[in-house]
Amino acid sequence: MNNNTPKESTIRLMTRLANKHNAVNLSQGFTDMPVIFETLWGLITAAAGGNQKTADFINSATVKDIIKKLNCNEEDFKNLSLKEIFRKIQGKKDVFNQYSYPFGMPELRKTIADYTKTHRGFRPDSETEITVTAGATEGFFASLMTVCSPGDEIIIIQPYHEMYPTQAAIAKVVPKFITLHQDTSGKWKLNTEELKNSINEKTKVLILNTPHNPTGKVFSEKEILEIAEICKKNNIFIFTDEIYEHILFNGLRHYTPAAYKEYKDITFLINSISKTANATGWRIGWVISPEHSTKKLRGIHDTTVMQAPTPLQKATVKLLEMDREFYKNIYIKYKENCRILVEKLRETGFKVAYPEGSYYLFADYTNVKKLKDMTPMDAAVCLITNFGVASVPGDNFYSVGSDGNRYLRFAFCRSLESIKKAADRLNMLNCN
Ligand SMILES: Cc1ncc(COP(=O)(O)O)c(C=O)c1O
Repeated sequence: MNNNTPKESTIRLMTRLANKHNAVNLSQGFTDMPVIFETLWGLITAAAGGNQKTADFINSATVKDIIKKLNCNEEDFKNLSLKEIFRKIQGKKDVFNQYSYPFGMPELRKTIADYTKTHRGFRPDSETEITVTAGATEGFFASLMTVCSPGDEIIIIQPYHEMYPTQAAIAKVVPKFITLHQDTSGKWKLNTEELKNSINEKTKVLILNTPHNPTGKVFSEKEILEIAEICKKNNIFIFTDEIYEHILFNGLRHYTPAAYKEYKDITFLINSISKTANATGWRIGWVISPEHSTKKLRGIHDTTVMQAPTPLQKATVKLLEMDREFYKNIYIKYKENCRILVEKLRETGFKVAYPEGSYYLFADYTNVKKLKDMTPMDAAVCLITNFGVASVPGDNFYSVGSDGNRYLRFAFCRSLESIKKAADRLNMLNCN
């Protein structure tokens, strides 16, 4: 079980163990699929162009245009390496690799506003409500520091992403835990009475992650509104973690309390491109905050990280301008991965439900012959060292009670090839 003191991430520890033992890494939630090309291209044009004019030239130039610009003949050009070509066309005047506005380039904030209107039905004010951050992780921390003082309480729904309680510990904020319970059909439910009972005069924030890591739960509109109403009545802010907003199965929809005028003023909508662009290493995210809190949030962000990287912000504009079809289809690349892994896990004795969203399976291993008598950490280490598949121990997602002791989390965001390899290795769990 997590003791919430700031420490190195267990999830990232499992990744290192996976690398050491050459295991298929289904522990940490990042893909080995390529970054969305339009986004990558946005980065190349911005970083190499350095200014808008050269970036525009690189973006649309044909080989013929480049030969003309370099003033060389075709034969000489054929012998140039790509590196030499880029050296020659790199912009001579640079703004896109330099400091920009700490709280986000105006162009990106405006694009986030448009994107939010398109996908969530409301347009936040890019001047007063949007702050570009170094991923959702920094967005959370800046938001926490904005509304909480030491000794305040926040409510965390367990199982949770490990950063919530550890960030609370750094901020000297007290986490109160309420629990999602899995029913016999495999569905995860929040008991709102438990939520109400956890509130007192010190409670400042509820953290709500949907689609949810690690259970795959997608909170319905009804659930979101019920939770939001409880928070509003009790003067509690909601920090939403929406980074899996486009990974939804079975035609489900994603809802955010920020989209309802009654709750916009209590919601900090936290998002990032990590999962949408296959770009977890880029560290670009944003917070849509109530206007009254934005100034303080930006001050904290400015003081701690100053700004998210300028050329990556330019690239993010390209991602957020992608058409609806692109976003609607993101889930498709995970569907087969999910099916293969669910079936294999079930075949080897795991009890596991199909997720509604995000890209994790939270699998009960208490009927898996070779693992059932082990602690979650021992079971995870055994899977890595003896079977070559890395997962995350379930108790890493809990702070109170023993619910987490039944589970291992598997991420199915890897390429189909990696998933098939993992499934193949899991077969060995069936051997005597
Ligand atoms: C629920 C959840 N929130 C936040 C993060 C971190 O997001 P970011 O990469 O934008 O900092 C993760 C990463 O896996 C996550 O699963």
